[in-house]
Amino acid sequence: MTIQWFPGHMAKARRQVTEKLSVIDVVIELADARVPASSRNPMIDEIISNKPRLLLLNKADLADPRTTKQWLSYYEEQGVKAIAIDAQSGQGLKAIITACQLLVKEKFDKMKAKGIKPRAIRALIVGIPNVGKSTLINKLAKKNIAKTGDRPGVTQAQQWIKVGKEIELLDTPGILWPKFEDQQVGFRLATTGAIKDSIINLQEVMVFALNYLREKYPDILKERFDLDDETFNSEDIVPLFDHIGKKRGCLMAGGIVDYDKTSELFLRELRAGKLGRLTFETPDMLNTEELIEE
Ligand code: G4P
Repeated sequence: MTIQWFPGHMAKARRQVTEKLSVIDVVIELADARVPASSRNPMIDEIISNKPRLLLLNKADLADPRTTKQWLSYYEEQGVKAIAIDAQSGQGLKAIITACQLLVKEKFDKMKAKGIKPRAIRALIVGIPNVGKSTLINKLAKKNIAKTGDRPGVTQAQQWIKVGKEIELLDTPGILWPKFEDQQVGFRLATTGAIKDSIINLQEVMVFALNYLREKYPDILKERFDLDDETFNSEDIVPLFDHIGKKRGCLMAGGIVDYDKTSELFLRELRAGKLGRLTFETPDMLNTEELIEE
């Protein structure tokens, strides 16, 4: 579910995360590996302040593996510990525990030196809607924890979930808002399905996605839709749109292409990974645009 964010919601979401931080040793921040910068909260550094943080690039099964490697190196250079995972299948989950142990080692060593009894590491999962927070909690807990409403205003009793002996996780994740005021970020999020379809123009999102694919993944696009060079290279996007619409049988009376239906089907295929593993931003794009920094 995607939330309509208003300033009041943002303030409340922020407060709720901040309140939880006092009982937390490490913050596990989830981002989408297909949009590793755009799917992060613009104020995350400020919100979690100096708490140790592990960044997880989730849905790595849908992302371009070469670009995921670039992002991991990029974050390493930034001093942010990052791991690529696939919460749905459970790929990369073991590395989370090891990474959390390393992140809190200094604090726990100090506690031990003071004679404080060893305890599990307390972690909080945070991230924007749809990034996979509930999926990850359920996978780590090895059972289904009821999905709590993605509404920033909902308060309820918090419970700790044991993840082996090493970690205790708060059962409700911290829900944060994306940086949607930036149009490019908005399009990237919409392309991957992080923004509710009813509040965006799908045709515009498809145009954005097509232009990106033409530039970064030309062969994938050509092959998937059997495109000839003329249609592929046409300056005007309409022939390309028409071709895909016809190919998918999205026609109205008189053989006119139904653009709404075409965009819906196209984006559904893309989001499900039918076009292959794709990433919609690279670290070098950060040099030309300010993707996360305010
Ligand atoms: P949230 O709590 O952060 O809002 O996200 P949630 O876990 O509900 O996950 C959002 C969607 O992303 C779900 O699909 C979920 O199955 C999918 N997902 C989560 N992690 C991964 C992953 O690592 N890889 C892939 N491929 N998908 C992942 P959905 O379509 O919204 O729901 P459903 O169709 O599964 O019911």
